[in-house]
Amino acid sequence: MDTFPKNRFRRLRKNKKLRDLTSETDLSPENLVYPIFVDENLNERKEIPEMPGQYTYPLSEIINVGEELVDLKIPAVLIFGIPSRKDPFGSSAYAEDGVVQKAVRLLKDTFADELLVITDLCLCEYTDHGHCGIVKNGKVLNDETLEIYGKIAVSQAGAGADIIAPSGMMDGMVLAIREALDREGFSDVPIMSYAVKYNSVLYTPFRYAAQSAPKFGDRSSYQMDIRNSDEALREAKADLEEGADILMVKPSFLDIIYRIKSELKVPTATYCVSGEYVMLKASSVYFDERRSVLEYHTCRKRAGADIIITYYAKDIARWLKD
Ligand code: PBG
Ligand code: ZN
Repeated sequence: MDTFPKNRFRRLRKNKKLRDLTSETDLSPENLVYPIFVDENLNERKEIPEMPGQYTYPLSEIINVGEELVDLKIPAVLIFGIPSRKDPFGSSAYAEDGVVQKAVRLLKDTFADELLVITDLCLCEYTDHGHCGIVKNGKVLNDETLEIYGKIAVSQAGAGADIIAPSGMMDGMVLAIREALDREGFSDVPIMSYAVKYNSVLYTPFRYAAQSAPKFGDRSSYQMDIRNSDEALREAKADLEEGADILMVKPSFLDIIYRIKSELKVPTATYCVSGEYVMLKASSVYFDERRSVLEYHTCRKRAGADIIITYYAKDIARWLKD
């Protein structure tokens, strides 16, 4: 018996073929989503200073981005819009000729089934106060916001969006959006809900890029407290009951991904957010960027993420090819 454990685990690790054959998790381009910022005020793409290597794009350049993604076999893009006009109600978020609506039409006209177009649904990029909902007397109003979310969803689906992704963390938003979509004949358009969205400092670079930082206060009245994990399950279950098709965990906290996937067993997405991107970029000063990025994202898969939304999508797809 004392000879039995010899090489017990090591026999399957002795060459690459054996390691690949027995691997439990695979990172592949098919499960990646690339987030892009489309800015109505731009004529040419502009690097985001707080997110080196990432850009905001004018409408005229998004076809190029789409082409790149299709070539790299990345199946989906997540669109954020930066409008030329903001108001207290974020009305350009549901305008027929809004920046996101135009971007969706362009991409779907060009790529049809080659590319899934996912639209972020929120108000913070469109409101002059920068909150994700309607504000009255310094407070963000939940129910008054839901009606507007419904309008945005219908307008995005009308433009051709394949998946609607509400990120505003208003209670009841999934149900309100589902009902609005069904009412207008879009019952086949799925909802990927930002079900578990923490109030995190890791969104800071994004807020510069999307020009969506709140002008007063913060988002702690609607986004989750980072100390909680049971609450994440309650949020996620509520969204499922309301009709969410895919649940998202954001930032890509491993314990939360693991709990959502293992306890609810539903399609699970995670968003490696702007701050995570910047941390990984910074780490490349000290050690190998490619290995660090592949390891980081593989861990999200191992934890249970089916879908990974990441600013590194294009790099990952390139690295996996060679
Ligand atoms: C808007 C929204 C945010 C992100 C996605 N949608 C920022 C926020 O809540 O302020 C963050 C994404 C990132 O950091 O990459 N509701
Ligand atoms: Zn928002």
